[in-house]
Amino acid sequence: METGSEKRRGVWGTRLGFILAASGSAVGLGNIWKFPYITGEYGGGAFVLVYLGCIALVGLPLMYAELIIGRRGHGSALGSLKALVSQQGGAGRDLSEFTGTLAVASGFLILSYYSVVAGWAIHFLWVSMDLIPLSAEGGAATTFGHLVGDWRLSTLWHTVFLCLTITVVGRGVHEGIERACSRLMPALAGILCVLLVYVGLTGGLARSFEFLFRPDFAKLSGEGVLEALGHAFFTLSLGMGAMITYGSYLQNDRTVVRDGVTVAVLDTVIALLAGLVIFAVVFAANGNPAAGPGLVFVTLPDLFATMPGGELVGMAFFFLLIFAAWSSAISLLEVVVAYFIDQHSLSRTQASWLLGGLIWMAGVGSALWSPVLDFLDNLTTRYMLPVGGLVIAILAGWFVRRGDREAGFLSLGDSGRPLAAVWTVTIRFVTPVLLAAVLLAKMGILRLPW
Ligand code: TRP
Repeated sequence: METGSEKRRGVWGTRLGFILAASGSAVGLGNIWKFPYITGEYGGGAFVLVYLGCIALVGLPLMYAELIIGRRGHGSALGSLKALVSQQGGAGRDLSEFTGTLAVASGFLILSYYSVVAGWAIHFLWVSMDLIPLSAEGGAATTFGHLVGDWRLSTLWHTVFLCLTITVVGRGVHEGIERACSRLMPALAGILCVLLVYVGLTGGLARSFEFLFRPDFAKLSGEGVLEALGHAFFTLSLGMGAMITYGSYLQNDRTVVRDGVTVAVLDTVIALLAGLVIFAVVFAANGNPAAGPGLVFVTLPDLFATMPGGELVGMAFFFLLIFAAWSSAISLLEVVVAYFIDQHSLSRTQASWLLGGLIWMAGVGSALWSPVLDFLDNLTTRYMLPVGGLVIAILAGWFVRRGDREAGFLSLGDSGRPLAAVWTVTIRFVTPVLLAAVLLAKMGILRLPW
């Protein structure tokens, strides 16, 4: 039965709908653009292994923390945190206030540049369809340079992408977000499978496999470990209350643990498959896997142009990128919109278009001047999300009441109690210490031993 408040705030229609929406949030540019290029830069296998460790030690515990806070707190990031810790006195309240506000600011800033990058993917979709020709001189590098350098063009695609996002969020949790993700995610999985079969036929898959799964620890640097930890965070959409917000539209605690694990596994599998496809294309043409951020927008389009059936493959690939980015952008906007609905009593439609409009303006800054984009990317992923995650871990571990904390584990039966104990130790000690170490290292205060 839906209660009055559920009717007003919205609820997921089905459990599968929630899983698709949450994995839609997790699977994004982070998986298909960033994961492959940082893996390439940091040398492959060993980096992947550290990344998997970070997902398990930091990602999963925080995923559970966020989901249960949302589920039990029943509000936006700020509303849920305040509801759960308010009985615990002053510090908890202040920390909640701080985190809730930081969460909205992070969502706002991330979406502003995320939408610009997603817009580039739309441009390259046209390029791959030959509706915009690849530059005759210099190929994709020139086309990409021209796109990034022309703020009007970047702004055009940014506007298109953001309008798509606003439209979905404006329609509501069930009618908008759940419905959109229920279509986007299967499409995304289908495209990825087709691409895998294709690279299986055209070669490069074996080398790609080896690159991703044979660790060479000599190639791993301290910098790589930090990057892996930061990325584990970003890729699971943690540290800014996205999973708190999505968790708050769940109707009961029963499957929170299992659903959290499912989302994390789906996200990881899709990142690895995307990496396999991309490096297979690169290796088949003897390209450079360490091409950096341009891997997807420069290296790949050039290779698609020379491959058999490359036009179709390119199209499929950029559809994949756009779908992934779209379902993630939806969750970024939802965090901001939910806050304004809960705290300032705006209607969903008002909040979506008003906040979407402001985010659009901020995004124009990134389209105008790419250092703004880099700055915002660094600020949010290196500092704001880890700080958010750190405080959420502290609140979940130390301030939330035991009954609320452990609720999600109890439905697991006998194995619930020991799992709850393991989680409690991790979220109280391991996760915060690792996060604090990353932050201090990024600030140059903590020196890495290697
Ligand atoms: N997880 C997404 C990606 O991998 C990005 C994202 C969406 C995100 N929502 C978020 C990151 C909330 C941090 C917090 O691209």
